[in-house]
Amino acid sequence: MKVDVLLGLQWGDEGKGKIVDVLTPDYDIIARFQGGPNAGHTIEFDGKKFVLHTIPSGIFNKNTVNLIGNGVIIDPFVLKKELAMLAEGGVQAGENLLVSRKAHLILPTHRLLDAVFEISKGRQKIGSTLKGIGPAYTDKVSRNGLRVGDMESAGFMERYENSKKRHLLTVGQYDQNHEKIKIEGMPFLEYEQAWKEALSALGQLKKVNSEYFLNQALTAGKKILAEGAQGTLLDIDFGSYPFVTSSNTTTAGVCTGLGIAPANVGRVYGIFKAYCTRVGSGPFPTELFDADGEELRKTGREFGATTGRPRRCGWLDLPALKYAIMLNGVSELIMMKADVLSGFNEIKVATRYQYKGQTTEELPYSEQDEKAVPVYIGKKGWDMNLKEVNAYEELPEELLDYIQFIEDAVGVPIRIVSVGPDRSQTIRV
Ligand code: GDP
Ligand code: IMO
Ligand code: MG
Repeated sequence: MKVDVLLGLQWGDEGKGKIVDVLTPDYDIIARFQGGPNAGHTIEFDGKKFVLHTIPSGIFNKNTVNLIGNGVIIDPFVLKKELAMLAEGGVQAGENLLVSRKAHLILPTHRLLDAVFEISKGRQKIGSTLKGIGPAYTDKVSRNGLRVGDMESAGFMERYENSKKRHLLTVGQYDQNHEKIKIEGMPFLEYEQAWKEALSALGQLKKVNSEYFLNQALTAGKKILAEGAQGTLLDIDFGSYPFVTSSNTTTAGVCTGLGIAPANVGRVYGIFKAYCTRVGSGPFPTELFDADGEELRKTGREFGATTGRPRRCGWLDLPALKYAIMLNGVSELIMMKADVLSGFNEIKVATRYQYKGQTTEELPYSEQDEKAVPVYIGKKGWDMNLKEVNAYEELPEELLDYIQFIEDAVGVPIRIVSVGPDRSQTIRV
């Protein structure tokens, strides 16, 4: 068997959580491979709504094992809250949730560092979710991190205190009053106490040497789906650096984030919205500042699942989509939020950019000095409410034409069209 992958092709929030949940009955194991609580994956069914940050979106299926892989960074405080939120909704996550010993921990002081670094950037700020992602991955790469497996050894708290001391030295250079910086609405010391209490919740979860667990599962013929977080255009290497996150959000991240050999990667589902959104700073060629952008935000309820911030909205960007398909080796596409485009007379799609006096299909290295200006073509819109549609053939002709146009342009088939947030509002092609 091979590991299938589902990941975002845009700037995150494409609807990964919803579709992983839809595909889960076909899999034995769902595994997150990168990112951390900066992710917010929404799942809706039976009139209930859940937002997951660390736990894989297969958790609602009792027969599926969910693994938080080594490439993920974990904040015990957020994880504990997530477990409580699930329990409140009648989902007991403990039994079918596994955690990699090699996953790194986000410490309270990583969140302080995130805050002071971001403030110091001023107008160049990244628009981080401030969950401590950058500083925690920095410690991992600079070989200073604390891992889940370290919690099992006696010297853990001493190492924690040493890391904290080191972080506070840096924080002090930015802001002497670090104790006044609030985390999750709490002063630092109060938050740190809550974080320490949450460590025991993490301690109770089942730990595994996940690279062995997954490879043995593959040998035993188990079906595994790797669930991406963020999106390709936020990738640390290939996104619009520095306005990116701190992990590889692309298929390559599955190999390092789970211990899967490249030859064992199977299907790659690339998921994209029928338009584009972005939260945080950074280039966004097709961003709209007019009534159409407002309409997309309103109809699509484009407000962040993690931070509640309004998402920037714009038309579909084909050069960016092709770039993401190329980097990930996407074998099939999933188009989300088609329902949100209902009611537009004309739907625009960027097919190229004007950049530095030339027409190009390549994303520029940087848009600091000059912006890429999209070249659009217009497609005819439709006015049908799609939320009740159950079959592909029932979709309006103009939407079928829009789908065909995208498939022809990118050369990859669209296998699922999503027409609403609920699990049931999913049309297989
Ligand atoms: P993720 O981070 O990729 O899992 O996506 P988010 O959960 O952050 O954002 C997607 C948002 O769109 C959530 O509020 C979903 O409930 C919602 N959603 C997902 N699919 C659809 C769809 O087809 N139509 C509409 N209208 N909403 C959708
Ligand atoms: P999901 O998994 C959308 C964005 C932030 C910011 C940048 C860096 O829900 O799709 P970070 O917190 O990593 O330092 O933020 O990346 N970002 C996301 N945007 N969806 C996400 O995750 C995101 N995770 C991070 O807004 O611009
Ligand atoms: Mg999200």
